[in-house]
Amino acid sequence: MADILSRCIHFLKEQRIASADELPVAQRVLFDVSPIRNAGPWVQCNGQRLLQFSSNDYLGLSVHPEVRAAAAEAAAEYGIGAPMGARPLTGTCELHLELERQIAEFKATESALTFATGAAAMMGVVAAVARPGDLLIMDQLAHASLVCGGKISGATMRMFRHNDPESLERILARADPAQPKLIIVDGVYSMNGDIAPLAEICELKQRYSARLLVDDAHGHGVCGTHGRGAAEMLGVEDRIDIHAGTFSKAFGTSGGFIAADDAVTFFVRSVAPTLLFTKAASACVTMATLKSLELVRNGEDRRAKLWDNARLLQGRLRQAGFNIGQTETPITPISFAGNQALFLADILRRKYNIYVSPVLYPAVRRGAAILRVIPTAMHQPEDLNYLVDCLQAAVADHQAATAAGTGALSTGT
Ligand SMILES: Cc1ncc(COP(=O)(O)O)c(C=O)c1O
Repeated sequence: MADILSRCIHFLKEQRIASADELPVAQRVLFDVSPIRNAGPWVQCNGQRLLQFSSNDYLGLSVHPEVRAAAAEAAAEYGIGAPMGARPLTGTCELHLELERQIAEFKATESALTFATGAAAMMGVVAAVARPGDLLIMDQLAHASLVCGGKISGATMRMFRHNDPESLERILARADPAQPKLIIVDGVYSMNGDIAPLAEICELKQRYSARLLVDDAHGHGVCGTHGRGAAEMLGVEDRIDIHAGTFSKAFGTSGGFIAADDAVTFFVRSVAPTLLFTKAASACVTMATLKSLELVRNGEDRRAKLWDNARLLQGRLRQAGFNIGQTETPITPISFAGNQALFLADILRRKYNIYVSPVLYPAVRRGAAILRVIPTAMHQPEDLNYLVDCLQAAVADHQAATAAGTGALSTGT
């Protein structure tokens, strides 16, 4: 008889993440503890001093003294977990409502709704607004949480080619004009660092009477003069029906949000399973997010430093011959053949004290692992130069180890 758990048992044998000889390195790189101090840029981890290049803490707000003080104040007042319930039961506090008012003001929408995580916001909003019979048209690289929401909704899902308005239009043109349609894209793509062509997508959604949801988890705080994301950068904020985001990147805390018309947020608040059936965000995290929202809104200097660092790093990497694709943001994906990124991350950590993460299957296509490097506002130019020099040295180390038939394990420092 077939056993549903047999796929767990076969997972290792099928070598889905890495081959048997790569597995010790994969386990070390993927599952060892990572630095808890995210911003750094130099952080202490496992008795080692490491240069952090793998954090989404773009503006360094996770360790900002005012954000820490806000969380500490709320923790002293209310304890760690409070409020101890789901939002519609005993889980809504004045801080949630204040954050929702301030997000609505920030995004210039009628209202906003916050969730305990970004993934809960994405899954919840898609699962709430769509029904069987509706059509969800998603960019093929849209975040997994949006795809999960689509699956929960039971709506029909079609994927269009990444950032390709013509591919989107083909699907829209073939669809039944009477069928309710929602186009779903990321603002900034988390693995490639490129930005959705939102102006063209807005034109299409209007032409075909569809609605548009933009998950700008990586754009908020980073893109646009005021940090309102890719939509601000591209001048299309008022053409988007549902804005969504997370506090787990540039805001340096955790939680997620949607911002839209009152009717939409009221409906999602009433039916989203990821809001109704889970504990609300704690008061101390919410208080911290209120402070970091203020810092994001007044964060021109930090944003300028972040973009200067991104330009400097990406220029030097390109000059050194690395392939960083079509990134348009600080997200810097460096492509290597096969699983080389895994070995380079291992060497960089162990020999050069640099913490970067490889992104492997299933987050990217199998055999197309990347090193995903993120400069932040906290890095100094010498940190960026050190990374490029060490990356070149690590590539040479790996080539030498491969030629010697010892693999990267021999770097053992
Ligand atoms: C595009 C995008 N959407 C949603 C999420 C989920 O956000 P969170 O980590 O806050 O749950 C992420 C984070 O990985 C993301 O990159």
